[in-house]
Amino acid sequence: MCGIVGYIGHEDTKEILLRGLEKLEYRGYDSAGIAVLNDNGVHVYKEKGRIEALRAIVDENVEATVGIGHTRWATHGAPSRTNAHPHQSTTGRFTLVHNGVIENYEELKQEHLANVSFNSDTDTEIIVHLIETFVNEGQSVETAFSSTLKVLKGSYAIALVDKKNKETVYVGKNKSPLLVGMGNGFNVVASDAMAMLQVTDRFVELMDEEMVIVTRDALTIKTLDGEKVEREPYTAEIDASDIEKGTYPHYMLKEIDEQPLVMRNIITEYQEENGKLKLDQDIRNAMQEADRIYVIAAGTSYHAGLVGKQLIETIAKIPVEVHVASEFLYNMPLLSENPLFVFISQSGETADSRGVLVNVKKLGYKALTITNVKGSTLSREADYTLLLHAGPEIAVASTKAYTAQIAVLAILAVDTARTKGIELDFDPIQELSIAANAIQVMIDEKDEIETIARDYLSVARNAFFIGRAVDNYVGLEAALKLKEISYIQAEGFAGGELKHGTIALIEEGTPVIALATQEHVNGSIRSNLQEVASRGANTCVISMEGLNNPNDQIVIPAVHPYLAPLVSVVPTQLLAYYAALHRGCDVDKPRNLAKSVTVE
Ligand code: M6R
Repeated sequence: MCGIVGYIGHEDTKEILLRGLEKLEYRGYDSAGIAVLNDNGVHVYKEKGRIEALRAIVDENVEATVGIGHTRWATHGAPSRTNAHPHQSTTGRFTLVHNGVIENYEELKQEHLANVSFNSDTDTEIIVHLIETFVNEGQSVETAFSSTLKVLKGSYAIALVDKKNKETVYVGKNKSPLLVGMGNGFNVVASDAMAMLQVTDRFVELMDEEMVIVTRDALTIKTLDGEKVEREPYTAEIDASDIEKGTYPHYMLKEIDEQPLVMRNIITEYQEENGKLKLDQDIRNAMQEADRIYVIAAGTSYHAGLVGKQLIETIAKIPVEVHVASEFLYNMPLLSENPLFVFISQSGETADSRGVLVNVKKLGYKALTITNVKGSTLSREADYTLLLHAGPEIAVASTKAYTAQIAVLAILAVDTARTKGIELDFDPIQELSIAANAIQVMIDEKDEIETIARDYLSVARNAFFIGRAVDNYVGLEAALKLKEISYIQAEGFAGGELKHGTIALIEEGTPVIALATQEHVNGSIRSNLQEVASRGANTCVISMEGLNNPNDQIVIPAVHPYLAPLVSVVPTQLLAYYAALHRGCDVDKPRNLAKSVTVE
C-alpha cells in the first residue's frame, strides 16, 4: 500500500528518494512521485505506473539535499499522474505526501476551502490546502501543520516541505505507519525501515497523533499540542541482503525456498537449551486464563488462523473462533467471559486488524500479536507478541509467513497444553524439523510441479481446490494464492460441500485439485474427487506418503498430520507461482494488490 520516504542531508536527494521508493515497491502501488527543493524552488515529478517510469522523467541534473517521495495505491481517485503524490498548495509553497484515508475531507473542504480549486480527486489534497490556509490566516508553519492534523479524522502518515524553508521536513502520523531515521548529518523519513536501510539502520518509532520537526541535525518529536516527547532510537535488525532477490527471478520463489530455513529459525528461537519450549510467562498466563480464543486476521493470515484453531483446540483444548478482521468490528459475536484476542499478521500493520485491536483494548481485553515485524503497530499495541522470525517477506503473495504462522501456533498450542498438564505424544520441535525436511523435498520437486502447473493451469478459466478437515483450510489458502497472482478464478471448498451447488460449475477439463493428507477423511475426499471426475473435471491429487494412491500426482513425505498443512501448501504455492509465470503475470506485483494493507 502507499509508501513514504523523505530525506534531509547533504547527498543527492533524488537518488536516495528513488532508491527508497524502489524498496517500497513490494507494498503495492499504482503511481509514484517525488519533490525536491533547491534554491530554484520545488521540483515535482510524478508518474503513473512503475518507479522505472518515474525515474525516466526525473531531471538527472536537478541537485537538492532535501525532498519527499511517495508510492500511491489508489483509494480516492483513479491511478493517474494527477492523483499521484506529492500534492501542492495553491501558491506552490507547500508540497506534501500522505498515506491513509481522510474520512472527513468533504466536511473540511466545505468548512475551510470553499474558494480553493482542486487539481486532483484525492482526499490528500485538502491537507496541503488547509496548511496553506492556516498559514495565510497568520499561523506559523509548525502551528498550521499541527492545527491541520488536529482537524483530520481518519488515518494519516504525512511528510511536508515548505518552499521557503529548505532546512525542515514536517512529519505527522495517526494510525498509518511512519518512522524517522537518524544519520550523521542527515535524517530520513520512511513508512517502512526497508526504504532507508540504504543510509541508516537507526530509527525512532512514532506514536499516533505525534509530529516531528526533521532537520539535518535533529529530530524533534512533539504531541499535536506542542509538548516535546523524548524517545530513544532503536537499531532495525534487518540485514539489507535479506531484502535483495539475489539470483532469484522473483521474491516469491526466493521466499518459497526459504521455508525450510524459516522452520529451523523458529525451532532455534522457541527452544531453550534444555529442549523445553521458550515462551514468556505472561503469554503462558494469558493462555491459561482464557476461556476462549478469538483469532483476528485477514487473507493468508486468516487461513493460518484456521489451521491454528485446529491445533489449539486439539492440542490445548481451548475453544477458538477465527474471524476475518474487516467483519469483526461490524459483526461482533457474543464474547465469552475471559476472552484472549490473538492477532495474526505478517506485516503487523493491517488496518482492519488494527481497528479490532483498538476496539478490544478499549473494552479491556488482553491481546497477543503473532507477527513477522518487530515494532510493528499491532505488536506495539498488543499486550504480548510472538515473532515469526521469517525474515522480510517482500512478495505480495504471502508464503513463508503462512508456514511460519502455523509453526508458531503449533508451538503456542503445545506450550499451553504442557502448562495445563495435558499429556501429549507430539513433540513440536522434532515434528517441525521433520516438516522442514519434507518442505525441502517439495521444493526440490519444482520442475515436476511446474509441469503440472502447465498441464492443468496454463489456459484454465477457473480452478477448484477441495479438501476435508484441515485440508479444507489449506485449499482456501491454495485458491487465494492462485487467484491473486495468476488471476485464474479459484475457489477452495470443503469436499463434501461441492455437491450442494458448486458442482454445477464443473465442466469438461475444469481443474480440481484435491488435498488428501488426513487419514480419517482420505476415503471421503477421494469419493468427492470421483464425483467431479465423472463430470469431466481434470483432477489432481496432493496426498501424503502412506495415504497415497499410485496415480496421485504429488505426494508429500509423511509428516505428523497436525503439521501436514506446512508441507501440503508448498506444492500449491509453486503451482500458483508457475501458473502465473506461464500466463505472463507479474508474480511479485499482482494487479490491484498491496503487500501491507494499511487502509480499512
Ligand atoms: O500483513 P497481514 O498478514 O496482516 O496481511 C493480511 C493479508 O493482506 C495478506 O495475507 C494477503 O492476503 C496476502 N497478499 C496473501 O498472499
